[in-house]
Amino acid sequence: MAYRGGLPVFFNPEQCRNETEVESKFIVQYLLPHLGYEPGTWYQEVELGKIRLDFLVFAARHYQMDCRADIASGLVIEAKSPHYHLGPFVKKLEYYLTELWVPYGVLTNGKLFKIYSRIGEKIHCIFECRGSSIHAQIGMIRTIIGRDEIQMLQGMRCEKAYPSAKASPSPPHLPKPDPPKIPTSSQPHPLSFLQKSSPIPLPQTTMRTIAVYHNKGGVGKTTTVVNLAAALSKQGKRVLVIDLDSQANTTFAVGLVQFDDEEDALSKTLSDNNIQQVLSSEEMYPIKAVAQTAHSFCTPPIDVVPAHIDLMRAENELNSQENARFILSQKLHDVEHDYDIVLIDTPPSLNLFARYALIAADYLIIPSDLKPFANQGLKNVQTLVKDVNNFRRNINRTPIQLLGVLANKISTNARFVQSTLPKRMQAVTDRYGLKMMESIIYEREFLAKCAEQVRIIDGREVPDPRSVVDFSPGCASAQEFQDLALEVLAKIA
Ligand SMILES: Nc1ncnc2c1ncn2[C@@H]1O[C@H](COP(=O)(O)OP(=O)(O)OP(=O)(O)O)[C@@H](O)[C@H]1O
Ligand SMILES: [Mg+2]
Repeated sequence: MAYRGGLPVFFNPEQCRNETEVESKFIVQYLLPHLGYEPGTWYQEVELGKIRLDFLVFAARHYQMDCRADIASGLVIEAKSPHYHLGPFVKKLEYYLTELWVPYGVLTNGKLFKIYSRIGEKIHCIFECRGSSIHAQIGMIRTIIGRDEIQMLQGMRCEKAYPSAKASPSPPHLPKPDPPKIPTSSQPHPLSFLQKSSPIPLPQTTMRTIAVYHNKGGVGKTTTVVNLAAALSKQGKRVLVIDLDSQANTTFAVGLVQFDDEEDALSKTLSDNNIQQVLSSEEMYPIKAVAQTAHSFCTPPIDVVPAHIDLMRAENELNSQENARFILSQKLHDVEHDYDIVLIDTPPSLNLFARYALIAADYLIIPSDLKPFANQGLKNVQTLVKDVNNFRRNINRTPIQLLGVLANKISTNARFVQSTLPKRMQAVTDRYGLKMMESIIYEREFLAKCAEQVRIIDGREVPDPRSVVDFSPGCASAQEFQDLALEVLAKIA
């Protein structure tokens, strides 16, 4: 067999004359290495009570043979002789997967290759190809049952639950795991995401979703989101803003929080109807029901899915809910005819909500003040984007497109603008390979003034923030956001 980079470059099913050769020449020498399973992550001829598996393969980073969570990230491979049809063996594979509660199974006789996923008590064929085209399809196969991909989807959960688990070098004596948990409606099945990961491309829409993200705090993400939203609205676009940050700064910035009083009706509505509920339920809390119109922030007004401080506490719960990462995309899909542009404000961290934003968005803007800390943080942004793009590939979504790094909160000092700024912008491209946006948002005190507007209701002073393009359309800052809106529209057209 010819090798490149330690991997066989080709597989010829004609070389497999019997089951033993399918196992050795196809599975051991070709398939497992191509899927990233090194020796020690898989076992052959595994006996588990009455069950005898040809191969039991583990995706978990540190696994224990007796750890149910690790089996739940596993894969069973059953090899048959090229002289046998696969049909009669499907029921048996279903029995193995449901008894062991393993998510994936492969059935192959060398000539035909099939991947099954277990949804509850049933298995479904989610991929199939001829052995002769396996090399052409290996990239696709890797996105379904490759070790990295399975680890990414499920590994986080395993490691969280079993932080001290260590790799076990000993041969397997796997006790029968706990009986499978029957999923209830309030507890979505941990693998329910598989149904959605089958390659069914969503129809093309004209609605565009843009995440505004940098893991560095205070670089102007929220200020950019709300003022860009207003400027886009002035361009005749129907704009939805999603606040995915538990600080809820966007929610405040557009004037959706009026009274500090927790008993206030509006505050109550907000604490029970915000992005947390949107993310927690597949069926309930559609965006249309949760979004509120920020009437006085800008004209025409924009809609906002608010955030609440409680979102912080929901992270662990949502993290264990496998389908939560799909919910925002799905719910946005439901409003694709209601909005032209969705802007997502994100938290200054690499947390789950940053991930959700990058999964749901088509485009990314990275605001940065271009100072050393923000620049160093760009590496983290790139790593997260790469990670999310791998995941997107798995669910048949194209990678997120970078609109650019947006120079933000930039000093207006003439010497700085003339000599330092161009170097800093160049450094972003040279060091990180990231393109800059053409627009620049300068540091302008006026922005804070718009945000601090108040009005009097029933003798009480309540926040009444205005976008800069509404508050003072002719000012330099308003012009910068209008230019940014035009650049964005040109790039996403
Ligand atoms: N262009 C600007 N000129 C002047 N001040 C700005 C500008 N942009 C943002 N600010 C101010 O900088 C501070 C941080 O801005 P903002 O909240 O938008 O940043 P952020 O990246 O969203 O922060 P966080 O990471 O905490 O969410 C705020 O006080 C805001 O008013
Ligand atoms: Mg913010």
